[in-house]
Amino acid sequence: MVTMSVRYLVRRGFLPMALMLTALMLSRQASADTAADASVEYRAALAAVPDARRGDQIFATCAACHGVDGSGLPDGSIPVIGSQHYPVLLRQLVDYRHAERWDIRMEHVSRLQVMQTPQDLADVAALIASLQPMGPTVHGSGEALTSGVTVYFERCQACHGATGQGDGDRGIARLAGQHPEYLLRQFIDVVESRRPRLSKTHTPLLRGLQRAELEGMADYLSRTRRSRGDVAP
Ligand code: HEC
Ligand code: HEC
Repeated sequence: MVTMSVRYLVRRGFLPMALMLTALMLSRQASADTAADASVEYRAALAAVPDARRGDQIFATCAACHGVDGSGLPDGSIPVIGSQHYPVLLRQLVDYRHAERWDIRMEHVSRLQVMQTPQDLADVAALIASLQPMGPTVHGSGEALTSGVTVYFERCQACHGATGQGDGDRGIARLAGQHPEYLLRQFIDVVESRRPRLSKTHTPLLRGLQRAELEGMADYLSRTRRSRGDVAP
């Protein structure tokens, strides 16, 4: 029916309106596809056999922001990615590509020519997982550390582990050695529904916590050492 109205508008000479309607139809189709597309692409990337040497070439684009060892920036505007678990990296890249996670820079980068196929994603993720980044040079103030550690052990430790190493086999993110400002922003984004996949599972865990407790958890995780990455299968 919409296609018919587009034709009608074109015939009647209302070209701008016809174009607008077409754009609307296309954007509807794109958003209807995203979640399904994302899970197909994620499974394809998991099934690929990664080639870290090819990944090294792709990573040149990423290093411009994340640094050659994947250690990001101390102010937390760019996260540590080096040594993150392989499946967790794949998940994030797929999510940025399909509007399941939002950041204008990462959405742009993850749709570049070098990041088109599931193989590309696997290659670069394997390289990043094998990096050993330097630890953060900036921590929190230390004031809220005790309450942060208490909350972390009560609510997060069972999945993320005592020092925040996560678990690649279970797709649980490594949080250890992450910049505190970045972590704090993620906690707030989760509660304010800006990270759809994470918000579902993490909102009940984070909602209701005091600002100081969130800062304390971020501070604690910035002080634990990130272990060397497990290399992709
Ligand atoms: C222009 C700067 C820039 C470039 C280039 C860039 N990134 Fe990022 N990256 C960011 C920022 C900023 C974030 C945090 C975005 C957010 O808050 O969601 C991020 C987040 C990520 C994350 C999620 C980290 C986490 O802890 O969940 C991954 C994975 C990632 N980038 C991988 C890559 C890869 C792979 C490349 C190269 C193909 C790349 N990035 C290139 C700026 C950049
Ligand atoms: C039931 C298991 C489970 C518990 C409990 C849990 N998490 Fe997670 N967490 C996960 C999984 C799985 C992921 C990866 C999800 C994804 O890739 O979208 C994750 C991802 C994250 C991330 C995103 C990392 C990044 O780099 O973007 C943050 C931050 C996080 N968790 C913080 C916490 C905190 C803080 C707590 C405690 C208040 C907690 N989690 C408790 C399973 C858990």
